Amino acid sequence: MTKQNIIIGSDHGGYHLKETVKHWLEMNGFTVTDVGCDSSESVDYPVFACEVAQRVSRGEFPRGILICGTGIGMSMAANKYRGIRAALCNDLFCATHSRAHNDANILVMGGRILGSAYALAITKEFMNTKFDGGRHRKRVDQIMKAEEKWGKK
Ligand code: RB5
Repeated sequence: MTKQNIIIGSDHGGYHLKETVKHWLEMNGFTVTDVGCDSSESVDYPVFACEVAQRVSRGEFPRGILICGTGIGMSMAANKYRGIRAALCNDLFCATHSRAHNDANILVMGGRILGSAYALAITKEFMNTKFDGGRHRKRVDQIMKAEEKWGKK
């Protein structure tokens, strides 16, 4: 596993899982920037999605992690940003393929769906799996071209 700088964020629905994932990343040699939230008090998930997505989009971090209750809102918000391929992975199969086929740069998980052990397995898989390239490169490029056509932040 290549150790990277990772940016992580959650809302209240993902707060506890974020703390667990952050701890695991730090114990495994990653440098983690946590943009919040800082408790299980109710907050708005787009605030955290936008900060993480913007900073990955600008190249400040190679990868990010976002966690809300389901992962749905976080992925919707993060995918509004240029160059972002945020993948909602609430299972291992999707984690593997989001990297191998889609070259995802943000992992999104549902804190109200996943148990900690499985979420850590997903995180590890996401961090370990390389993009396959080849025919998948062409398809990812097609997504990125669509982004140019419509314009994003
Ligand atoms: C918050 O209640 C919940 O809506 C949020 O965590 C997330 O699941 C949104 O998609």
